[in-house]
Amino acid sequence: MTDTGLTARPGGPLRGRVRAPGDKSISHRALILGALASGETAIDGLLEGDDVLRTAAAMRAFGADVMRLGDGAWRVTGRGGLAEPSDVVDCGNAGTGVRLIMGAAAGFSMTATFTGDASLRGRPMMRILRPLSQMGATYLCRAGGRLPLALKGGNLEAVSYRPPEPSAQVKSAVLLAALNAMGTSEVIEAEATRDHTERMLRAFGARVDVEDRHDGRVIRLAGGQALTGAPVRVPGDPSSAAFPLVAALITPGSEVTVEGVLLNPLRAGLFVTLQEMGAELVIENEREEGGERVGDVTARYSALRGVDVPESRAPSMIDEYPILAVAAAYAEGATTMRGIGELRVKESDRIAMMAAGLAACGVGVEEEPAGLTVAGTARANHRVAGGGLVHTHGDHRIAMSCLVLGLGAEQPVAVDEPGMIATSFPGFGALMAGLGAEIG
Ligand code: S3P
Repeated sequence: MTDTGLTARPGGPLRGRVRAPGDKSISHRALILGALASGETAIDGLLEGDDVLRTAAAMRAFGADVMRLGDGAWRVTGRGGLAEPSDVVDCGNAGTGVRLIMGAAAGFSMTATFTGDASLRGRPMMRILRPLSQMGATYLCRAGGRLPLALKGGNLEAVSYRPPEPSAQVKSAVLLAALNAMGTSEVIEAEATRDHTERMLRAFGARVDVEDRHDGRVIRLAGGQALTGAPVRVPGDPSSAAFPLVAALITPGSEVTVEGVLLNPLRAGLFVTLQEMGAELVIENEREEGGERVGDVTARYSALRGVDVPESRAPSMIDEYPILAVAAAYAEGATTMRGIGELRVKESDRIAMMAAGLAACGVGVEEEPAGLTVAGTARANHRVAGGGLVHTHGDHRIAMSCLVLGLGAEQPVAVDEPGMIATSFPGFGALMAGLGAEIG
């Protein structure tokens, strides 16, 4: 496949109302829990990005009946458990997909082999293999806990696990394995991470106990609980909504509304930070949909100022630091982001990629092992210079962030490998064009 690059050009104001694509985290979970459950799971608003389509194919390979009925409308008929796949399961670019599926698969007496694209094959899997092997699963993998790897599950014992890194993927993998382990497992999180797995397990009939203690949040789940299929309505992805919203904040004269955005507090850290930066960001029509809070978020062009982002906020905005760095580039004064070492093991090293992309566009940046400081450019008659070609290392969020950077800059900004945007936001180009952005 050739991927020829995209260029964002500074232009007029962005205006309009749009819907964000379905939430990626919830979409993966709906397919996986649907496959683990007995009976039918009707999913509405599923994100049809490459990552999630890989999970749909994987669930078929593990024996579930997975049908696409129409735009975002899918039906999963589970067999109350997973069966051994007859071939290697390729999860593409999706860290969430492969890590959650490994957890689910570990509960069953079978061997499954997993792989992914070059980025996923470079990402650490020991964080999942460590707790799963404590529960009794065995594995064979490449050096450093890399894919491809073979995992042999079944006859698991419960575990009490305290993940060293704040990670909803690790927590979720342990909880999904715990469903089919002997005894009650617990995950102790020093900092709470997104809780979609816990919420959805409850919606599928499982009992999940959550206790907030002085040393963190404890999530307990007893093994041997059967899941029953349930309808899932997937809310709009705040991590995707972030791109048009920040584009509006930095482009003079803009006003953009994104409807139906997930507002779960464990995902809403970016909105809090932008408001602290002085962003005119208004949330209306807050409501409950399918067990999650959603609302319509409107962003208007704003004079932003730099802030120190508290480290404790990192889990609730972990995927949003690249686009926050773009907002920071248009602010007055510096924005510091610390405690974000996890960004180095995402689809790319996001600290290094954003530092390089911003520097190529004339923005002052300072990189630290687990942090990034962005020098805001806002002064009278002074904006981001732009003019750079950004290397994205195949990272969808770096590509979208740097395209947004170009919309308010003095010169266009180009990115390589924009094809990867389809992993999480297949309609990004069309949605941005509909708002008036010049990206092509
Ligand atoms: C996710 C958890 C986060 C996030 C990822 C989605 C999830 O990863 O970065 O995009 O759906 O559980 P970590 O668990 O590695 O923090």
